[in-house]
Amino acid sequence: MSQKTSLPPTTDHPTAPHGNGRRSRREFLRSAALGAIAVATVPLLRGHMAHAATTGGRSMLIVYFSHSGNTRRLAACIQRLTGGDMAQITPLTPYPQDYDAVVELARQEQRRNVRPPIAAMQPDPAAYDTLFLGYPNWWGTFPMPVATFLENYPVGNKTLVPFCTHEGSRLGKSEQDLRRLCPQARLLKGFEVRGSRVDGTEPSVKAWLSELGLI
Ligand SMILES: Cc1cc2nc3c(=O)[nH]c(=O)nc-3n(C[C@H](O)[C@H](O)[C@H](O)COP(=O)(O)O)c2cc1C
Repeated sequence: MSQKTSLPPTTDHPTAPHGNGRRSRREFLRSAALGAIAVATVPLLRGHMAHAATTGGRSMLIVYFSHSGNTRRLAACIQRLTGGDMAQITPLTPYPQDYDAVVELARQEQRRNVRPPIAAMQPDPAAYDTLFLGYPNWWGTFPMPVATFLENYPVGNKTLVPFCTHEGSRLGKSEQDLRRLCPQARLLKGFEVRGSRVDGTEPSVKAWLSELGLI
């Protein structure tokens, strides 16, 4: 396990990406509702193979954390296009569904630089040479369980491909933070989309993957 590296605090506020807190909050809630619907379809996608899926000679694992389902749907889209395997980052203590409660908890976790414990990853990321890493933007970067994942399963010099859903802040400073936590990784250009627009994004995902030479 590598040494705990601290993430600097962010000034990015989750309710302020559009300069209109009320509208932004409504969008978050709408995203959460869409995500909840998507959860029903996810068990189909959660299955994984006993061996690393290989595309064009690469073994690819799509690792993601998702609270309300948007990032999970984006991960599923990448899975369809690449044929990679999927693995979810699951905090041992689930985050509250109440919006204000999760926002406050996430803020405190980031401020204190905590590493929320996560369940053992299935399949084991060590078997893959390319890791996609998906997360929602929380307070300007990835949620802290993603930091736990990176420390429990060191990326080393693997290829790391970030993707992110958000409501205005795009990738924020998450790529910078990934670089800090995974200094040896071959970090490729990340993909970002608003959580409320994930469903129409497959053509852009396809273009991004082919630009990177991953499909
Ligand atoms: C705790 C929390 C913090 C958030 N912070 C931001 C933020 O700083 N910037 C932003 O654009 N969106 C922010 N959002 C919105 C989420 O990034 C967005 O809704 C995302 O699509 C949720 O992904 P998920 O459904 O996979 O959990 C935040 C949402 C939550 C719950």
